Amino acid sequence: MLDTLEISVKKVEKSRIEEVDFNNIPFGRIYSDHMFIADYKDGEWTDLRIQPYENLSLAPASSVIHYGQSVFEGLKAYKTKSGQTTIFRPMANASRLNKSAERMCIPEVPEELFMQALEKLLKIDSAWIPNQNGNSLYIRPFIFAMDDYIGIKPSDTYRFMIITCPVGSYYSEPVKVKIESVYTRAAKGGTGFAKAAGNYAGALYPARLAQKQGYHQLLWTDAKQHKYIEESGTMNIMFVINDTLITPEIGSTILNGITRNSVVTLARDWGMQVEERKVSVDEIIQAAKDGTLQEAFGAGTAATIAHIKLIGHEGVDYTLPAIEERKFSNKVLKALDAIKSGESEDKFGWLHMV
Ligand code: COI
Repeated sequence: MLDTLEISVKKVEKSRIEEVDFNNIPFGRIYSDHMFIADYKDGEWTDLRIQPYENLSLAPASSVIHYGQSVFEGLKAYKTKSGQTTIFRPMANASRLNKSAERMCIPEVPEELFMQALEKLLKIDSAWIPNQNGNSLYIRPFIFAMDDYIGIKPSDTYRFMIITCPVGSYYSEPVKVKIESVYTRAAKGGTGFAKAAGNYAGALYPARLAQKQGYHQLLWTDAKQHKYIEESGTMNIMFVINDTLITPEIGSTILNGITRNSVVTLARDWGMQVEERKVSVDEIIQAAKDGTLQEAFGAGTAATIAHIKLIGHEGVDYTLPAIEERKFSNKVLKALDAIKSGESEDKFGWLHMV
């Protein structure tokens, strides 16, 4: 993308990259040298800048702290085998960020601002993009309300930022999930489809209860009856039953996942039967009991594919087939990795070269 915006740059005096063990990267704890910032004032994004990664200074009354007016995104950059930097489907993230922003009364970030900021930041911190198999640079764009005002109203001032961190895998092992039948992540008309900070905070307590029972995550169900499965923890959920890929249809309570869309697109391209529809708890439990549930997995940017090894429901644990036997999720993970590393053809135009 052509640089048409003025973004000032102040670089670090000394990079921290030598402190990082790229063969052993924990998820989300190590940040690259630089970050991007833009401030929204008087109806426009101003003071576009890249500067060393450092702590922020905020007014204690900043509305984001009290009322959670904040949205974010997650996407990844990779190095192809030939050393080229590539970002996976960034325009889809730019578009979803603005859908989330609209729901939270946050001003939109123009796509060209999102893309130029991202590209410039990645060029400066190019050395931070891992080239080991399975590793990547996780990119976290976010916008939050900055007004120094304790009353409730949409803020007049905002900050848009992008930080990045080299990451390894999000889950170190296949996950055990519990079907949630008391608490709710999202209700019709709420903010479930948005990547809004508060959605994640509200999910922490029920997830903690499940963790105390030995599960890693929850399978969220609909708010009204807890009858239909919606998402898996912080990811979209997918099942393979009798060789058909089944996933809850996108709606106001479900995040429109970009990894979800990529998986569904590849499955259809391979001629697999795909159903995007309501998925009832009863259907999944029955399929787990009679052995037709061949696979269950979460799909999201951070984890890509998170295999589910066990589903808990009403005090009973259902163990699913061995991970090595799962044809589809293993194949799709491999196919996505091959596209991202430039080893196989980018048939759908998902890679954005920097
Ligand atoms: C992602 O998958 O990118 C997310 O935003 C989930 C978060 C828990 C890391």
